[in-house]
Order: sequence, then structure tokens, then C-alpha cells
Amino acid sequence: MTETLALLGGKPVVDLRAPAWPIAGDLEVAWMEAVVRSGKWSWVGPHEQAFCSEFASFIGTKHCACLSNGTVTIQCALQAVGIQPGDEVIVPGLTWTATMQAALDIGANVVLADIDPETYCLDPAAAEKALTPRTKALIPVHLYGCMSDMDALGELARKHNLKVVEDAAHQHGSRWRNVGAGALGDVGSFSMQQSKVLTSGEGGAITTNSEEIYEIIYCLKQVGWSPKGTPGNHYGHNYRITEMQAVLLRGGLLRLPEHLRIREERAAQLVAGLERIGGPLRVARRDPRVTRQSYYALTLHFDEAQAGGLTREQYLAALGSEGCHLGGTYPPVHRHGLLNLYDNTSPVPSRDPAEIQNYAELELPVTARVTGSEGVVLMHQHLLGEEDYIDQLVAAVDKVNGKLEQVKTHFATQEA
Ligand SMILES: Cc1ncc(COP(=O)(O)O)c(C=O)c1O
Repeated sequence: MTETLALLGGKPVVDLRAPAWPIAGDLEVAWMEAVVRSGKWSWVGPHEQAFCSEFASFIGTKHCACLSNGTVTIQCALQAVGIQPGDEVIVPGLTWTATMQAALDIGANVVLADIDPETYCLDPAAAEKALTPRTKALIPVHLYGCMSDMDALGELARKHNLKVVEDAAHQHGSRWRNVGAGALGDVGSFSMQQSKVLTSGEGGAITTNSEEIYEIIYCLKQVGWSPKGTPGNHYGHNYRITEMQAVLLRGGLLRLPEHLRIREERAAQLVAGLERIGGPLRVARRDPRVTRQSYYALTLHFDEAQAGGLTREQYLAALGSEGCHLGGTYPPVHRHGLLNLYDNTSPVPSRDPAEIQNYAELELPVTARVTGSEGVVLMHQHLLGEEDYIDQLVAAVDKVNGKLEQVKTHFATQEA
């Protein structure tokens, strides 16, 4: 390729655009108007009830309850499976802060374990090493575009009598051996916040096959009332959603199967394109046990050595100039700037240091490498673009790969 890098003033390769996100159709707009005029705006209304049965059947569980976000879903799920203050809960080192916070906030001791180098999800061997007699639950996070190894984690849970709360905030519709993410553990937790593939702006849902767990979670989110409308036995809060949110979820769920199909096709196209051109960027290998992958993001690997010493950030900046917008991963959860574990508003300073993992000095080598230099993600709306758009993304990567030395010189000159 002879064109000048866009970073150096050349023409960007990508002139097509990914669709905007979030989206809503005419049906939601009509439903929304009807809801506004109905005077039935909340309190587990007809749209919420309908969505719960539609989502439960989509995931393949007996029950679903909607909650106000994908953080309180994890809190309530942990409480419903019996996690008590001081119990240890294993969380992967790479996730959004909420997974760790939800467990800390109900008084559990979070034990962070390292991630699998290919999928960036909880490594079952690391989870096994982190077990102590106080371990009571695992929270596998199906992160970005990969699922956790639910065979190995399920086996570990069975062997050690652990509860499994799946954090499926990134995986509405993924399936492991044809069983839905959110139906593989004791409880599944979903976020419906605005960036998610099924969204109501804010919102969350839990799925479970257990009548008992469902009833507890319902009480926890409905100020202590049971699903039958009678006072329940649990100390609940108001974690409800509104009918306006339920309308957006119902509309989004109608589109989701088609979106899943398109995103899987575009992901396969990108895999093939990047394999064909070679170079430092590749898509994470798909585990054949994943029978459907819902891509909240595509998980990629960046090989700094193959990029001739360019950093991930420099490489991604060159791609961004070409109109190919990829990003890095979350930071390690215990190093996240928004999660001040030692501030006096955090539950951590009030714990006995002898009882908790030493987060300040904790080393998780795979998490550190992935978050520091290797992990790359492409957000899901890009996978809803046309095939030509995906071809342009691959062409942008190809162009940058052919001019790595120029990118390096550019940044070296800037730094000098
Ligand atoms: C993996 C993961 N878990 C939990 C959450 C929390 O969801 P919410 O923002 O709806 O509270 C998120 C949100 O981004 C997430 O990415």
C-alpha cells in the first residue's frame, strides 16, 4: 500500500460508519406513548411482567426478575444464594468494577483470581488455587466476546459445594453447549445499561431455574413483597424498573436474535480478514463449546513484539486515525481509578486486613499483561455495520500493519 497514513495527514481508509447505539423502533415509541397515557408507570406492570417471561424463555430459565441495574442484580443474587458477610467469593481480576463492588457491598470478601490468557475470563485453575475453606461462591464473568469455561467452573463448584452467579452483563444470548449464559449457574445477572446489546438506558435482570432463589430476589428488589403480592421474609429495597424501561427491553428483545446473527457473521468475517492479512492483531479463538456468541465486544489480542515495539496505544491511535476505532480493556479491577478501595466510603478499610486479600500488593500476571499491553476490544455496534464496513476495518489494519515503522517514527518524534 502506498497511501499516506491518516496519522500523518493521509486519507482515512474507513469512510463508512457503524450504526448508532442505542436504537429503538416504532413499536417501542408507540408502546411508550400508550404507557405514558395509561398512568401505569411502575410497580411491576404488564410490560415488565411480559418482558420477564419473554426473557426467561429466551435465556432458557424458569424465572426472570427485572432490577434497576446490573450491579444490584449481583448483590441480590449473592444474597439469594446465601452468601453471608465474611464468606469468600472468587471474582476474576479483569471485569467492570461492579462485579467486585456488588460482592464487597454485601459484606463478602472478594478473592481475585487470574484470567485465562485466550478468553480473558476467569481461569478455572487460578480459581481452584484461590479456594479456601471460606470460599462459598464463584462469579464467572463472560467478558466482551468470550464465555468462561463453564464445564471446568461448574465441575469446581460441584466438587467444592460452591454457588455460581454468572455475570452475564456482556452476554445476552450467548450459549455454552446450547445452554444460555445466565442459565448455567445458580443465577444469571444481566445489565441493561445503555451500552449493552439489550438496553433500557439503565436496568438489569436476573435469571434462575430455582423457585426459591427467584422468590428471594423478588422480595429483595420489591421492598420485601413476595411475587404473590404478600409480605415476604426478606429485607428488600426498591430496585424496580419502570414500564418505560420494560417497553424498551421488549422491543430490543424482538430485534436481538437478528442482531446476534449479524454480529456472529461480521465477527467471522473479521476473523477471516485479520487471519488473511496477518500481523500483530488477532481475534480471540472461539471455544467450540460456545454454540452462540453474543458479542458485547469482540475480544482481540495485540502482540507488541510483532508490532516491532509499538505500544498498543500507539497502534490503536494509528488505526483510529484511519477510522477503525478499537479500544483497550478495563484496567485490573483492583486498580481501577473509579474504585477507591481504601477511601473511607469503601467497605474495605473496615475489614480485618488478616481476613482479606491484599489488593494493594496483589499480582495477577495474565490480567496485568492483558490490561497493560495485549487486550483489545471492538464494541458491538461495529459488528452491526455492513459487510463493506468490515472490509474497510480490515483494510485499515492492513494499511497500518504495512507502515509500522512510520507509526513508530511518528511517536518517537513526538516524544523527543
Ligand atoms: C461485566 C459487568 N458486570 C456488571 C456491570 C454492572 O452493570 P450496571 O452498570 O447496569 O450496574 C457491568 C456494566 O457495565 C459490566 O460490564
